[in-house]
Amino acid sequence: MIRRLTLADLLDYRVVRLEALQRHPEAFISAYEDEAAESLDSYKRMIGVAPSATFGCFVDGALVGIAGLVVSPRAKLRHKGTVVGVYLRPAYRSHGRAAQLVGAAIDEARRIGLVSLLLSVTVGNIAAERLYRNLGFHSVGIEERALRIGDRYFDETTMVLRLDQGAAAP
Ligand SMILES: CC(C)(COP(=O)(O)OP(=O)(O)OC[C@H]1O[C@@H](n2cnc3c(N)ncnc32)[C@H](O)[C@@H]1OP(=O)(O)O)[C@@H](O)C(=O)NCCC(=O)NCCS
Repeated sequence: MIRRLTLADLLDYRVVRLEALQRHPEAFISAYEDEAAESLDSYKRMIGVAPSATFGCFVDGALVGIAGLVVSPRAKLRHKGTVVGVYLRPAYRSHGRAAQLVGAAIDEARRIGLVSLLLSVTVGNIAAERLYRNLGFHSVGIEERALRIGDRYFDETTMVLRLDQGAAAP
């Protein structure tokens, strides 16, 4: 079951989010050490104030996956959104749940009239890139050395999904 998270989900969200950052540091911009030290209040902001939102995937009532939609309040940026923080706990992968989660963010983006969605995926993250391509995202460029973890650099691909006229040509 996929649904939008509310403040009642805050503690469960924090557990899943920190697990994501700890297990996959190269997949996310945020560092585990930084967010583990954050107050619960800052997690409220991450869950999202409309039009931003965070979606959760529940199995037997337990939160097993998350995906965020962030929309800037700035007048010149309000037409588009960014998909962030996509994560599925390992035991629940490979059943199409990630596609449902990101699909919920896409549906919400369409519902509120956004014209495009963006996201960043670390080069080499095959499962994530394939997931997004299957949903219609296409790559528009690579930022070299987008992340640095210790003495290693990671490149990131920016991907876009146009919502106003179907999927754009790759
Ligand atoms: C990314 C993530 C959410 C995808 O969830 P998932 O349940 O594993 O997704 P799927 O199993 O449906 O895999 C997505 C696609 O990649 C393919 N895939 C998965 N692992 C692969 C691999 N190692 N090599 C090639 N293809 C692979 C799957 O076959 C599927 O493609 P298909 O539907 O065309 O068959 C999950 O792997 C995850 O949480 N990863 C860690 C965090 C992360 O990387 N988040 C994304 C940040 S941008």
